[in-house]
Amino acid sequence: MNNSDQGYLERRSQIEHYFDRTAAKTWERLTSTDPVGKIRATVRAGRDEMRATLMSWLPEDMSGMRLLDAGCGTGALSLCAVERGAHVTAIDLSANLIQVARNRYASLSPLSKNTFETPKRGWVEFSSGDMLDPQLGEFDYVVGMDSLIHYDAPDLINGINILSERTKKAILFTFPPRNPFLAVAHAMGQFFPRSDRSPTLAPVSQHKLRSALQKSITNKGWSEGKTTRISRGFYTSQAWEWVRQ
Ligand SMILES: C[S@@+](CC[C@H](N)C(=O)[O-])C[C@H]1O[C@@H](n2cnc3c(N)ncnc32)[C@H](O)[C@@H]1O
Repeated sequence: MNNSDQGYLERRSQIEHYFDRTAAKTWERLTSTDPVGKIRATVRAGRDEMRATLMSWLPEDMSGMRLLDAGCGTGALSLCAVERGAHVTAIDLSANLIQVARNRYASLSPLSKNTFETPKRGWVEFSSGDMLDPQLGEFDYVVGMDSLIHYDAPDLINGINILSERTKKAILFTFPPRNPFLAVAHAMGQFFPRSDRSPTLAPVSQHKLRSALQKSITNKGWSEGKTTRISRGFYTSQAWEWVRQ
């Protein structure tokens, strides 16, 4: 881990506590196919759409390509990438969510033996720890789906800078966009039962984020690519692709 800033470490510890203890069961259920209430159903639908969007920005055939699923949670995106042949390193602060991810990976149906197509499933290695750990190595692609949304802008930018040094082709990440309506939606989160409250989201202006990233990584060969906002009920997140030329 080469981000030792005290503010970052404190935030990371709150996030780990939330996902590993407070909300581990909630996340396991939300990311399963088990029924959930109406509010969470909108979040699940939004997240499914976000995952599909991010996957649509990655190559159809990822045979042998290295992908980092940064803050993988229960591993849904990792499993999609594995089906495209990717070699996935999946890491999350929460050891409990990693265990759920490992179990889900182990229960993937085996590839049919009677197919004439070359099986192209890759593999994934799940571990618990910090996605910014330099020991994870280098990647063709890094995806951080909703894993940077609880950090404020300086930590988010620092995280993208660190990851950009280890990535050859593209980084796809999401952030909570700042706008007046969302400020109200986030304030409404204060009325949720305490057990359901996540660490505060840190909405960030895309304009400010762009200026900061242009200053820090554009001169290293990076440029911005696609961006799209997914809004479904209680879920809103902005996906952004940055590409190395
Ligand atoms: C909202 S969940 C999203 C999980 C997964 N990407 C998905 O979309 O299903 C955010 C996850 O990011 C993880 N996370 C946050 N900061 C992290 C860090 N510095 N290193 C590793 N994981 C982190 C959290 O533990 C949590 O599981």
